[in-house]
Amino acid sequence: MAEQKKRRIITTDAAPEDSASDGSLRPKRLNAYIGQEKVKNNMAVYMEAARMRGECLDHVLLYGPPGLGKTTLSNIIAAEMGAAIKTTSGPAIERPGDMAALLNDLNQGDLLFIDEIHRLSRVIEEILYPAMEDFTIDIVIGKGAGAKSIRLDLPRFTLIGATTRIGLLTAPLRDRFGVVSRLEPYTVEELTCIVLRSAEIMGIMTEKGGAEEIARRSRGTPRIANRLLRRVRDFAQVRRDGSVDKEIADYALDLLEVDKAGLDGVDRKMLLAVMEKFGGGPVGLDTLAVSVNEEAETIEDVYEPYLIQLGYVKRTPRGRVATDLCYRHFGIKRENMEKDAPPLYSNSV
Ligand code: ADE
Repeated sequence: MAEQKKRRIITTDAAPEDSASDGSLRPKRLNAYIGQEKVKNNMAVYMEAARMRGECLDHVLLYGPPGLGKTTLSNIIAAEMGAAIKTTSGPAIERPGDMAALLNDLNQGDLLFIDEIHRLSRVIEEILYPAMEDFTIDIVIGKGAGAKSIRLDLPRFTLIGATTRIGLLTAPLRDRFGVVSRLEPYTVEELTCIVLRSAEIMGIMTEKGGAEEIARRSRGTPRIANRLLRRVRDFAQVRRDGSVDKEIADYALDLLEVDKAGLDGVDRKMLLAVMEKFGGGPVGLDTLAVSVNEEAETIEDVYEPYLIQLGYVKRTPRGRVATDLCYRHFGIKRENMEKDAPPLYSNSV
């Protein structure tokens, strides 16, 4: 039987315990939303222009890695536009009738948010085309030779699509979005502000150094930063006076085995395999997957993007390669490495 995998603390998936507190941590208006400056500034202009013209906002497609705030931003857009928002997701819409019913239920100016929009089936997607373009839907009544198609007018609405996999969207769907924005991983400075803001909402005394340490190990992702903050708070409460400084953050995060760069045990196992079993690469994705007992797809979609972003791994036509930076992270010397390149961290977990 397949081995049951332990859930990673640094997973970008929304974990059940996230949702309880994330509700109150999520910014409700644009001026409280930290980071994503480009997207924020552009959206502010598009929203103001639509308001000035008394029109609906154009359809918006938000894409980027999970946990960066696509849902949060959609709710903010609704609040800023004074519009109601209905939320669903690609996999939840199973039949064409479900999509037609959703669209038919909208009121003038409403926002329809479809998460994981790349997972809509083709037939369902095709209902969206006239809905997005002309605000109409074609409904087929009856069956066989007697079937009739009637056209229904819809109120004007804004579709907000969110996806982690823009490459899987069909061109006709992608082209029907007037605004296409990519969310980027957050900088350590931005995440530090987010941690300080969350700590204040949760009533946790937090020093900047403590927030910064959590930020540094959060893989550019607010969802992870908030999760790590909650765990560090537990250690601070039980082992100290409840306040978070750099020392307790370091202590807790080391115990959680999230290292100085935000790597966990699975990342380290994979990188060590590339360096020690495959001489630094290139090693094919499938070979690597077998050697660390993971699915190739999981490595590609979940583990690797952050390792590539850090500059520890490169994708080459012949396979994955560990970079000098990766060797330095582990304090491992490699032949021909840049002379005297010191280890990146003196106490990597
Ligand atoms: N919490 C989660 N994401 C956030 C963001 N971008 N700004 C402020 N608080 C957040």
